[in-house]
Amino acid sequence: MFNRIKEDITCVFDRDPAAQSVFEVITTYPGFHAVLIHRLSHFCWLAGFRWLARFIAHIGRWLTGIEIHPGAVIGRRFFIDHGMGVVIGETAVIGDDCTLYHGVTLGGTSWDKGKRHPTLHNGVVVGAGAKVLGPIDIGENARVGSNSVVLKPVPAGVTVVGIPAHVVDPKSKVATAERDKIAYKMGFSAYGATTDMPDPIAYAINHMLDHIHAMDNQIETLQKALNDAGIKYPETPISKLDGCEIEDGYDEDEL
Ligand SMILES: CC(C)(COP(=O)(O)OP(=O)(O)OC[C@H]1O[C@@H](n2cnc3c(N)ncnc32)[C@H](O)[C@@H]1OP(=O)(O)O)[C@@H](O)C(=O)NCCC(=O)NCCS
Repeated sequence: MFNRIKEDITCVFDRDPAAQSVFEVITTYPGFHAVLIHRLSHFCWLAGFRWLARFIAHIGRWLTGIEIHPGAVIGRRFFIDHGMGVVIGETAVIGDDCTLYHGVTLGGTSWDKGKRHPTLHNGVVVGAGAKVLGPIDIGENARVGSNSVVLKPVPAGVTVVGIPAHVVDPKSKVATAERDKIAYKMGFSAYGATTDMPDPIAYAINHMLDHIHAMDNQIETLQKALNDAGIKYPETPISKLDGCEIEDGYDEDEL
């Protein structure tokens, strides 16, 4: 038991650069106090002393501002930073090495009895103010951005953000950068048009840009193949996208 308490103290140093000494953690970290009190209340809960368990948890809430139901199952090296406003429901399950910040709710979405709170697998981090609701699984080492509202299961290792939370896709960053380059060439600004804000017009334009880019590449390849085969391809002059040059024959006043 003392080993577990020791782990609960030492894990603070890995996750809070502000922590300076063991004495400081023991005396001033409400997250540590809440976990310690929960270990006791959970023991009473399992032993069948339900009222006592609830009362101990209630005192813990008074002292720390962190409400953990004694029925919640919490793994090793659990750290709640700052803590105020954290709520952890009765049927929540938290794996090892998880971290919560202040204002996090691991709550239910129904009044039915039975499993109604989330399960956090090992190494999950839930940012300040995030709400994780329902009997959903948050996969190993997943990260929940602050103030997100998570209502669906989260795969292992990903980051989710937003309301409702969605997975941050690293591939989308590359696609967006490519589109930005083409849009810049064409003098089009796609600001505000991200996958998070699917403005239908910007969405359509983004796909047209992708399509134009693919056609450009195909034409270039075809031209090269024709030239290599000795076929003279009559090139039609196309205005340069990056220079915004005005083609001959246009009246400048009309533009
Ligand atoms: C989500 C988090 C874990 C970072 O994860 P990450 O995998 O490193 O993600 P990144 O920082 O690369 O961000 C990925 C994208 O999500 C966005 N994002 C990050 N956190 C977000 C949030 N809470 N809400 C909305 N979008 C968010 C970023 O802007 C970025 O968007 P972009 O790709 O368009 O630039 C971190 O931002 C977070 O919220 N940590 C909790 C910290 C906390 O609560 N601290 C309180 C201390 S008191």
